[in-house]
Amino acid sequence: MQDRKVVIEELKSQIDKDKLPSHVAIIMDGNGRWAQKKHLPRTAGHKEGMERVKEIVEVASNLGIKYLSLYAFSTENWKRPEEEVNGLMKLLVQYLRMELNNLNKNNVKIKTLGNIDGLPKLPREEVIRAVELTKNNNKMVLNIALNYGGRNEIVTGVKNILKDVKMGKMEIEDLTEENFQEYLYTISQPDPDLLIRPSGELRISNFMLYQIAYTEFWFSNIYWPDFREENFYQAIIDYQKRDRRYGGI
Ligand code: FPP
Repeated sequence: MQDRKVVIEELKSQIDKDKLPSHVAIIMDGNGRWAQKKHLPRTAGHKEGMERVKEIVEVASNLGIKYLSLYAFSTENWKRPEEEVNGLMKLLVQYLRMELNNLNKNNVKIKTLGNIDGLPKLPREEVIRAVELTKNNNKMVLNIALNYGGRNEIVTGVKNILKDVKMGKMEIEDLTEENFQEYLYTISQPDPDLLIRPSGELRISNFMLYQIAYTEFWFSNIYWPDFREENFYQAIIDYQKRDRRYGGI
């Protein structure tokens, strides 16, 4: 335990506070395999994953990260067994009920990415309540991606642009890469600087497709339920060593 504290402090001291990524996105993967390794049901992996959500949200906010995006439920996750989907929805409700006051006290603004109209009533209501309660907070934005798909986000954006053009609110010629972003769930937010994917998978899985054009990726074999404060710091340290050229030299 003492050793872990020393490691954490040592890593923290290596972080340059002036060069923090302003937006960090995380694909929280590996809950199922974590549970399987321990001969537990998959839902036990998600439950432990929720503990890491609590930990990493607090760590990111204390460090000074301005935007944190967590991929909690994709448009494809509905294909999972009903019991698992229900378990995930229950955990979301549990997380918000348990953490909302704390998040609000800590000045965290909760936002959602995805079509929350497609969520069951209870989680939908809890999410709306959380967004409403925290809407004036400004320390860190916590984006929770729910019923989210990157392609769906782009197509929904295009449909809304076409509606605006039809209604005369926009001219086709005025559409730019910048104002296209106003039609995405991440409206007014900077693109992720760093995307973390634990669990050993080396893919994007339909997450923030438009926004990750110049994002730095950080992959790790650690399963999300094992992803701790020290791993988050390591990802930031590695990110700070990258040379971001955005296509220049
Ligand atoms: C992917 O692991 C994880 C998910 C589909 C769900 C993520 C949800 C949580 C961490 C908990 C609840 C979230 C909040 C915001 C309270 P997987 O099941 O695909 O893992 P596997 O690839 O090992 O099977």
